[in-house]
Amino acid sequence: MEVKKSLGLAVIGCGTVGGAVISQVLNQKAYLTERTGLNLQLLAVVQRSGSTTAARKGIDPKLITENLDEVLQNPAVDIVVELIGGTTTARDSILKSLAAGKHVVTANKALLAQHGAELFAAARKAGKALSFEASCAGGIPIVQTLLSGLAANRIEALYGIVNGTCNYILTEMIRKGTSYAEALAEAQAAGLAEADPTLDVSGGDSAHKLAILSALAFGKKIKFDDIPVQGINNLEVMDVNFGRELGFVIKLLAVAQRKENTLSLRVRPAFIWEDHPLAWISGPFNAVSVYGSAVGHTMYYGRGAGGSPTASAVLADIIATGLGCSQAWFDNLSLWPDVTEPAVQLPVEEIESRYYLRLMLEDKPGILGRVAEILGEYNISISSALQKELPPDRVDKEGVPFVITTHLAREGNVTQAMKKIESLPAVLEPGVIINIIDEHAEAF
Ligand code: HSE
Repeated sequence: MEVKKSLGLAVIGCGTVGGAVISQVLNQKAYLTERTGLNLQLLAVVQRSGSTTAARKGIDPKLITENLDEVLQNPAVDIVVELIGGTTTARDSILKSLAAGKHVVTANKALLAQHGAELFAAARKAGKALSFEASCAGGIPIVQTLLSGLAANRIEALYGIVNGTCNYILTEMIRKGTSYAEALAEAQAAGLAEADPTLDVSGGDSAHKLAILSALAFGKKIKFDDIPVQGINNLEVMDVNFGRELGFVIKLLAVAQRKENTLSLRVRPAFIWEDHPLAWISGPFNAVSVYGSAVGHTMYYGRGAGGSPTASAVLADIIATGLGCSQAWFDNLSLWPDVTEPAVQLPVEEIESRYYLRLMLEDKPGILGRVAEILGEYNISISSALQKELPPDRVDKEGVPFVITTHLAREGNVTQAMKKIESLPAVLEPGVIINIIDEHAEAF
């Protein structure tokens, strides 16, 4: 076994992912050297003041410290691995580490989505690499795929199921007909949802990943706050079931579509056709579909969360850094938010999609005609319509559900039309609007 290079590591944070990274570095040491020629040496585990996590995980007490500054003074530390999370201490730690001349590997999606340009600029100034494979879709190597495997392609679109918690909840709603609240409680009982799942179910976590992936896919600086985001927390099982009758499966999708020089970005619960490969992704798994100009449709599938899968991605970055790949990508590719132009992000009203609309109507003559008239006024063309009797879970309600699917329409027109429809006295409650995503056309 030939060691070609030794690599000193300091890991900040020893939670689920940090613990799994440390355990892979220590337990797979010989195999990793045999495979890569790199001798990975864990030199320090930095944790928050007063934390006992590292000690409880059986880490050599000599390696545990609360003093990052001291660790950064050690010339044997080549890479700082930031796994503490959050956007304050983590940001300071990364900036300090780069300034001290260390490469950085992080899994911190919230930080990169919101402060990516600043952090990459700091890395460039320091002449070091900042790698982040584990920030998007856990163990799926989607970042290195965009940097390397798809390097020859102009990316046309990207569709991601990038939140395992939401995908688990939606899978339960689809398969068992359980309500959102019941499915969430099950996910929490199974240890698949955080005690506070707000960031996941509100779509915020998916938006972080979308911002990071879109920046690389399209080589543009993404304004995170301008991404329209909707989560799954208001989804009714009635709509999940009506969608199924129409041949659709509901997914929380992170969508990025290039249209000439603009980008249409959004996170939405969306209906996709049941024969699209993304419709088959169930439970806590993630998948990302990428459409390239040369390759056409590709899809990447795997576990999007959990210690070991996420550690796999962190280790991939450590190895790519050790081999010099990360630095070469960072120095040579024009994809990094510190050097790219701002994207022209379509405002939400301008986004074009097909839509599923569901209304609760009084069952009286003439109402459907009035609804169709309003849609016509807003240039929205109906592609199908379905009136149902009340499903058993809604027998407490009055009225009948009426479902319409539309051809392509501007979102601004759809929301305005819905407002006008909701003002009709025969409309009993706020309407439901869900994107329908058709199969993306390949470029050839
Ligand atoms: N909480 C995320 C999920 C994993 O449920 O997919 C970390 O990004």
